[in-house]
Amino acid sequence: MQNKKKHPDIKEILLLEKVIRKKVSELAAVINRDYRGKKPILVSILKGSVVFLCDLIRQLEIPVVLDFMSVSSYAGDSESSGVVRLLMDMRESIVGRDVLIIEDIIDTGLTLSYLKRNLMTRKPSSLKICVLLDKKACRKIEIKVDYAGFVIPNKFCVGYGLDYNQFYRELPYIGVLKPEIYRTAHRKI
Ligand code: PRP
Repeated sequence: MQNKKKHPDIKEILLLEKVIRKKVSELAAVINRDYRGKKPILVSILKGSVVFLCDLIRQLEIPVVLDFMSVSSYAGDSESSGVVRLLMDMRESIVGRDVLIIEDIIDTGLTLSYLKRNLMTRKPSSLKICVLLDKKACRKIEIKVDYAGFVIPNKFCVGYGLDYNQFYRELPYIGVLKPEIYRTAHRKI
């Protein structure tokens, strides 16, 4: 498969498409094993996790139900504001269900901590967390991640669902954005 050419705003490619694909397969294999005989609800947190979700579910051999939630903590900024807002709730009831939260990235941990607290009040049978990227060094709150793809450095990453000001999500790889892009205010991409 051909890799898209490196975007001019990308300083370096951190994770190539093929590297991501291999990791997603590995994560799916573990999830297949752990949830054998179960029908979990996968709760994808919009918008960043959708690319990861789409690739992950196509490697799953267990029946899954999909649902979506939208929260916001960054609000167009390059750093977490620390304030988590629920923008859109999921549709399904999770009472007595096995729930697996699907996230693209954990950074401070504030978003997942909020989501975990919120979803636990709805009495699921189990609640686990699956993230593709873990910026471990940036954690502000301790939280257990059950399935993690890559531990990555504290660099501003975009692509494979991750954005800056809503752009770059379509890149098939994960790359580090050139600092001049997010330092220049009101720049048109
Ligand atoms: C990103 C990411 C997580 C959150 C992680 O979402 O998808 O939800 O930040 O950061 P934290 O661990 O510091 O809380 P973002 O708010 O950028 O929205 P998006 O998914 O729509 O891009």
